Amino acid sequence: MKSVCRANAYVSEAHGIKNQEALQCSNTMGRKFVVGGNWKMNGTKAQINEILGNLKSGLNADTEVIVGVPAIYLDYVKSQAPANIEVAAQNCYKADKGAFTGEISPLMLKDIGVNWVILGHSERRQIFGESDDLVAEKVAFALSNGLKVIACIGETLEEREGGKTNEVVFRQTQAIANKIKDWTNVVIAYEPVWAIGTGKTATPEQAQEVHKDLRQWMSTNVSGDVASSVRIQYGGSVTGANCKQLASQPDIDGFLVGGASLKPEFVDIVNAKQ
Ligand code: PGA
Repeated sequence: MKSVCRANAYVSEAHGIKNQEALQCSNTMGRKFVVGGNWKMNGTKAQINEILGNLKSGLNADTEVIVGVPAIYLDYVKSQAPANIEVAAQNCYKADKGAFTGEISPLMLKDIGVNWVILGHSERRQIFGESDDLVAEKVAFALSNGLKVIACIGETLEEREGGKTNEVVFRQTQAIANKIKDWTNVVIAYEPVWAIGTGKTATPEQAQEVHKDLRQWMSTNVSGDVASSVRIQYGGSVTGANCKQLASQPDIDGFLVGGASLKPEFVDIVNAKQ
């Protein structure tokens, strides 16, 4: 199946068209659905106990579940979370140790048994001024230290309205592609900034279009194999109410969920894939 799909992807590239066959193939590549909860700067121990309590049963075993936890609670959540829930940091720096006040390193995360990190979230980019290059360096460094990475990309409202969505998303992905070769441990989270925390979800069609275009771009600029195997999450106001429709899109392989990951409905989102 793999080589047939790759061949189709190449044929579609050669003809410069977004080949439906290649797309259908990409849907059959066995990408495991992956849902991340990004708690951001939220939660106390008491609230964390409640959130984890909600997640202790009813999770679809076919979905990979990761919770993105404030650094101070990582160790605690590691000790409390059931084995089927992975734990992610929301950031880490591109050095093992040293004079970087306030930062944490991949080495430290591995030391406490954390295997995932979210990098390049738009809040890190916008509020803390992280550039495409810095994000890419962090992704490369985290991967080389054995972490798995959820790498976030996405356009602002102004960029979308200016017709620049693909340009921005491709540029952000290219920066990462410049620094890494192996995408096995990377999940991409496409999160339109205008949809984050606003209640304005991208429609399933809008999200699918960007995911499909990004996969096509990756097939040309990275490789056919990576394009068909890399998992692309959608993020931005995903809820229990809209998750099933989004999950039904062929190129949406999971979600990165902010606000709703703090609520009981997160279980419904984990189980969105039919
Ligand atoms: P939201 O956040 O689900 O609250 O929109 C998503 C995110 O920032 O990852």
